[in-house]
Amino acid sequence: MTDYRFLKACNREPVDATPIWLMRQAGRYMEEYRTLRQTYGILDIIKTPELALEVTMQPINAFDLDAAIIFADILPPLEGMGLDLEFIKGTGPVIHNPVRTPADVEKLATPDAREALSFTLEAIRLTRAELDKRQIPLIGFSGAPFTLASYAIEGGPSKNKVHLKSMMYNEPDAWDKLMTKFATIAGDYLLAQAEAGAQALQLFDSWVGELNPDDYRQYVQPYSKQALDMAKEAGVPLIHFGTNTNGMLEEIRDAGGDVIGVDWRIDIDVAAQRLGDGVAVQGNLDPVALHAPWDELKARTKKILDRMDGHDGHIFNLGHGILPTTPVDNVKRLVDFVHDYTS
Ligand code: CP3
Repeated sequence: MTDYRFLKACNREPVDATPIWLMRQAGRYMEEYRTLRQTYGILDIIKTPELALEVTMQPINAFDLDAAIIFADILPPLEGMGLDLEFIKGTGPVIHNPVRTPADVEKLATPDAREALSFTLEAIRLTRAELDKRQIPLIGFSGAPFTLASYAIEGGPSKNKVHLKSMMYNEPDAWDKLMTKFATIAGDYLLAQAEAGAQALQLFDSWVGELNPDDYRQYVQPYSKQALDMAKEAGVPLIHFGTNTNGMLEEIRDAGGDVIGVDWRIDIDVAAQRLGDGVAVQGNLDPVALHAPWDELKARTKKILDRMDGHDGHIFNLGHGILPTTPVDNVKRLVDFVHDYTS
């Protein structure tokens, strides 16, 4: 199992070619996914292990990817905590009873992932069995405490995160309790996914770039660290990803993770330099670059690979999730080019 090039790169060991996977690699840009979505809602797919298996495998069947990521979402764990989650077409995820007061925080449950999220754990077991035959490792994931808190408090799309930051600044005790609950939920869920068969784990802190570095250090880092410390027990590589993190890259690293995921707003060699030798680096093509003509996309991909040439521990990825408008042909060419160019 440690022979997988993706896992080797996570451990900063030499590889025969740079590994590549894509955040949100299963999804609407694929015809196969859109067809299934005509019959099932996203939560139906997530909660039916056979369907989650099928969708997880769609990009694996279509492209020569070096890892699969289990089909799930960062938000279903909120349901077990007592929050009413709905994915609304055109709007995205909505929480109908958002957390706004210290009393709301008190009410949040912290159920064991093995019960509350048994469907995803079962999907992991099924998928792992299938992937072993294909010799491809499986990634499990969780939202990070801050990003989960962001959805729980804002309740839906939010530009300035006013409710979230207001709780942070005005209710420090409630904030601590809330973030401790999310750290527990995230850490336990990651651990349970590794027990079920996930061979690497990614913590998504997608919205953390909304904060200044001081606020990150005070209000977020201890809780991300708590979640990652719990997950570390699993003994599998941990990937810690955030966007807009240029002001706090070292702090993200110090919260934990064997691999740090970076977005496209920084040159990847500069990020690698700042992060130092102790971690691998994942990234960092702008997802929109996949909409460029192939020659342009190839040039940008080459630049990232050249910047990381000679640096053990690079996992090629996008700087954020793949977009629904992405041309499938470019995905195929990207994956093949990363392998050809680096082998
Ligand atoms: O990477 C994968 O292939 C695994 C699946 C995966 C999904 N969501 C499926 C999904 C993963 C890893 C996620 C993570 C996720 N979900 C994040 C963190 C990563 C990021 O992009 O920042 C966040 C913030 C969410 C929350 C979420 N889920 C939003 C905001 C939305 C709506 C926006 C959108 O893209 O539609 C979702 C829905 C969602 N999760 C879809 C998929 C494939 C699209 C839903 C559909 O089929 O209609």
